Amino acid sequence: MAPRKLAAGNWKMNGTLASLAEIGRLLADHPAPGCDVLICPPATLLHAMAASAQGKIAIGGQDCHAKTAGAHTGDIAAAQLRDAGASHVILGHSERRTDHAETDAQVAAKSVAAHEAGLVAVICVGETEAQRDAGQTLDVISAQLAGSVPDGATAANTVIAYEPVWAIGTGRTPTSDQIAEVHALMRERLSARFADGADMALLYGGSVKPGNAAEIFAIPHVNGALVGGASLKAEDFGPIIAALS
Ligand code: G3H
Repeated sequence: MAPRKLAAGNWKMNGTLASLAEIGRLLADHPAPGCDVLICPPATLLHAMAASAQGKIAIGGQDCHAKTAGAHTGDIAAAQLRDAGASHVILGHSERRTDHAETDAQVAAKSVAAHEAGLVAVICVGETEAQRDAGQTLDVISAQLAGSVPDGATAANTVIAYEPVWAIGTGRTPTSDQIAEVHALMRERLSARFADGADMALLYGGSVKPGNAAEIFAIPHVNGALVGGASLKAEDFGPIIAALS
């Protein structure tokens, strides 16, 4: 089984009920995309977006707690995401790692919780600009994969997103060769560790736009994208979906 193609949107801390009009526009413009489509809105919109998506667009959370329930004010359990209509959850995004000091071990524990709740974990890895400049990129990615992806990961319950921190929201992207180098490393590491690691979907994220999507999707072992800013409007996300289809 080849990895499934996935166009994933991360709305981050953007969007209100009025933003759900974009879902209607996406469905109207791309009624039968040739790839899986996922949008991860803020938790406040999960229920309503799941209804708008009519089962044609998958819905995901942006984080979950490692525990199943309890006294954790402001946090959300994986089963609660599932109850709200989510099938996926983004974990270990660099903004979580930076803003909330999340460690690889915490990301792995959250991923286990996601799997136990029946969610697909979209686990993010990526180097900072200082790490790239120091020639540490491949070591950083290897360590994050080893520490953040739990032993129970399979091609069915896990997607890996490579997001260079310096490319997120900056309009800068790595060269195709740089993306290819990291994705080849990830494929090699995952194939060595997991029986179906060759089938695990690998996404690229960081300033993906309609204008660069086709070039990025042509890179070996790039099975889709995790898109931030350009996922907020159907007029931007639609062409990215079309480029992957
Ligand atoms: O999760 C998405 C990434 O952080 C990419 O964000 O497309 O706005 O650069 P961006």
